Amino acid sequence: MRVQISAESQESSLSAKLVLLLVLLAIFFPGGDNQEDSQGPTTFHLIQISSFVNSTWTQNHCSGWLDDVQVFGWDSDTGTAIFLKPWAKGNFSDEAIQMVEEIFRNYFSVFTSEVQDHVSEFKLKYPFEIQGLAGCELRTGGTIMGFLRGSLKGMDFISFKSAWPSPKGELRAQKFCTVITKYKGICETVEKLLLETCPQYLLSVLEAGKADLQRQVKPEAWLSSGPSPGPGRLLLVCHVSGFYPKHMWVMWIRGEQEQEGTQRSDFLPNADGTWYLRAVLDVAAEDTAGLACRVKHSSLGGQDFVLYWGHSLSVGLIILAIIVPCALIFLGLALWFWRRRSYQDTQ
Ligand SMILES: *[C@@H]1O[C@H](CO)[C@@H](O)[C@H](O)[C@H]1NC(C)=O
Repeated sequence: MRVQISAESQESSLSAKLVLLLVLLAIFFPGGDNQEDSQGPTTFHLIQISSFVNSTWTQNHCSGWLDDVQVFGWDSDTGTAIFLKPWAKGNFSDEAIQMVEEIFRNYFSVFTSEVQDHVSEFKLKYPFEIQGLAGCELRTGGTIMGFLRGSLKGMDFISFKSAWPSPKGELRAQKFCTVITKYKGICETVEKLLLETCPQYLLSVLEAGKADLQRQVKPEAWLSSGPSPGPGRLLLVCHVSGFYPKHMWVMWIRGEQEQEGTQRSDFLPNADGTWYLRAVLDVAAEDTAGLACRVKHSSLGGQDFVLYWGHSLSVGLIILAIIVPCALIFLGLALWFWRRRSYQDTQ
């Protein structure tokens, strides 16, 4: 879809333009795979979800993230950020934070009214949603990449990336700005936010939150069987929980052979900021010999967990087989001594 911008706005309504831009607004995706997580997050991004329910009812949700760790939310009633970590402001002063909050308050109000005004022009039908992603990413070598993506009904309508500092990136950014040259003010504000404010914030918040963001928490793992997938079949379930960071490798194996049929669940968050994950394998009931679940995680320092299917059961049975007779013998002896003593005492 093409978004056309009508040309009458003035330089003064910079925030309105910002909105437009954001109409074009931004979404940005944290650049694909997390590299090695042991260094912690490398990307900051804002997510905007705007639901246009009807001509008078719009809800704007906004949140700020370091990779998969949420650091603040947005209270749309008061138009202020809600910081979720003690270090979430980085080294920004309260005044600097208030300034950025002000830009975003203006942005949301202009964005909402601009979109509402252009609903018929863009042939939109209520209800619809617009999503934006914007932020910056620290690359190896110290380059920082700013990005912005906006999508409507799942289709991107704007996408922008620029490196900082980098002459090449400047060229790309200029190209972006010529596209919306009528809205030079917006362009400059966005560029400043993405290529100056965002890198400053990213670097300072990564430093301020270092101990928390780079912590390593070991998983717990256990096995169970799930609901039977069919006659003669078993569903083996490997649970892994309580780990941080999020990056996790878990697989059913036989010997060294990875079982291709392994299916991983989505990551689910625990309340303490750690993660839960499940890997299931559908097998014939008589075909479980030698199967194990292998868990690799940065917190384990190369010492993978390997949990054998049926092993805990047989170990349990062996222990039972040894302990029960031993216990009976001890009990018998104790009884015998006690009887004997009480017999002697009565003599
Ligand atoms: C818009 O939606 C809200 C919430 O569902 C509702 O209360 C309101 O009456 C609706 N307004 C119109 C004009 O349909």
